Amino acid sequence: MSVSTVAAATTICAPLPVLGRDVTVPLVTGGEVTYAALDYAASAPALQRVWDDVAAYAPYYGSVHRGAGYLSQLSTDLFENARKTVEEFLDCRPDDQLIFTRSTTDSLNLLAAALPADCQVFVFETEHHASLLPWQDARVTYLNAPRTPGQAVETLEQALAARDPQGPALVCVTGASNVTGELWPVRQLAAAAHAHGARIVLDAAQLAPHHPVSVQDLDVDWIAFSGHKLYAPFGSGVLAGRADWLQAADPYLAGGGASRKVSRREDGGVDVEWHDSAARHEAGSPNVIGAYSIASACKALTEAGFDTLVAREQHLIEKVRTGLAEVPEVKVLSLFGDDAPRVGVISFVVDGWNSSHFAAALSAEYGIGVRDGLFCAHPLLRTLLGTDPQTQGECGAPEAAPGEKSLNAIRVSFGAGTPDEHVERFVGAVRELVTKGAKWTYHTENGRCVPAV
Ligand SMILES: Cc1ncc(COP(=O)(O)O)c(C=O)c1O
Repeated sequence: MSVSTVAAATTICAPLPVLGRDVTVPLVTGGEVTYAALDYAASAPALQRVWDDVAAYAPYYGSVHRGAGYLSQLSTDLFENARKTVEEFLDCRPDDQLIFTRSTTDSLNLLAAALPADCQVFVFETEHHASLLPWQDARVTYLNAPRTPGQAVETLEQALAARDPQGPALVCVTGASNVTGELWPVRQLAAAAHAHGARIVLDAAQLAPHHPVSVQDLDVDWIAFSGHKLYAPFGSGVLAGRADWLQAADPYLAGGGASRKVSRREDGGVDVEWHDSAARHEAGSPNVIGAYSIASACKALTEAGFDTLVAREQHLIEKVRTGLAEVPEVKVLSLFGDDAPRVGVISFVVDGWNSSHFAAALSAEYGIGVRDGLFCAHPLLRTLLGTDPQTQGECGAPEAAPGEKSLNAIRVSFGAGTPDEHVERFVGAVRELVTKGAKWTYHTENGRCVPAV
């Protein structure tokens, strides 16, 4: 069943309650309005349920894996149960290891530090910098942007067929683009990787908050995601997958918790026996609230039901895409074309407008929070914009004259907590700004476009 038929077949549920849903912000033109948080792809608001779970646990907070006291025992149980809950959420294999990290960036850097010697890495240039950059010390091949999902598989197949077949290899791919929201053909890419003796890591930072993800079904070797994009903004992320490379590698951080036994040598040095469980890469005091909050979010999303969440999100995507399509000055950025399945992440440029100026006006005049810039995906933006992108143009004047290419873009993104009114306000604001112009004047301050007050 395609994503759009899911939407048609399922009743649209109410948004899940999130923190900040009633927060009002001042408008530069006077008055206040409820804040429309439309930057979920950067950081999603906390689910109310996550916040409530964390608040209920907070008085019982204690050290993890360390203390003998009751609250330490309880916190240790909570931390280890959180690991099990997230493993279930990701449908991990029984012998996979799940490591709590700080974020997706941290998870991918951990895996990069655990690559076997002489590992070849294959990564599309379209990746977020978190997936693009950690492999610099390996033999990395950057693959050109594909223009269809099929071309992505073909490009990877060709690159792998040409690789040195003896050594280890890793493919790193995103599940859903943080720029276009488009879904990547992960299962097919995993099959291609495995057919050529390579392994694959899935960057699920933008996928896991929107879709159910099964490590076993997709047949990926590792998966990484961030709590703060999954409605659990307490500083934790996840890397889960095959234990062998992780356990053969030196600990990501050296320190307590990762070490089983430390002894002085005759020559005055120190010998260390490292753990061979997930603890090997979790040195230091674990972030129990971060881990617990991710587990809480996993439970909340599962209980709400991804079928209904996906249907609701597709309904919002439809509203935004239809609304933007009615404004001829707006160009939505896409690699795979209009029919590609996608999550609620949409980037666009507006003819004759500086993106930073446009985003500032959405905020100051309509109380809408979006993101502008290059979204930590510079090579992808270069491909999509067809020009050398820049993080900032001079605000107030369009960075490109009408009809010329834009130098950066605007991104609107949403999810399980987004009410219809937020996307309706956004579409109305885009239409009004394009037809009537901004009501206020703006200037550049500390590299950001802000209202001149
Ligand atoms: C696809 C993708 N991968 C990785 C990251 C990095 O996530 P974090 O900043 O939580 O490490 C992001 C963040 O926007 C992302 O969108």
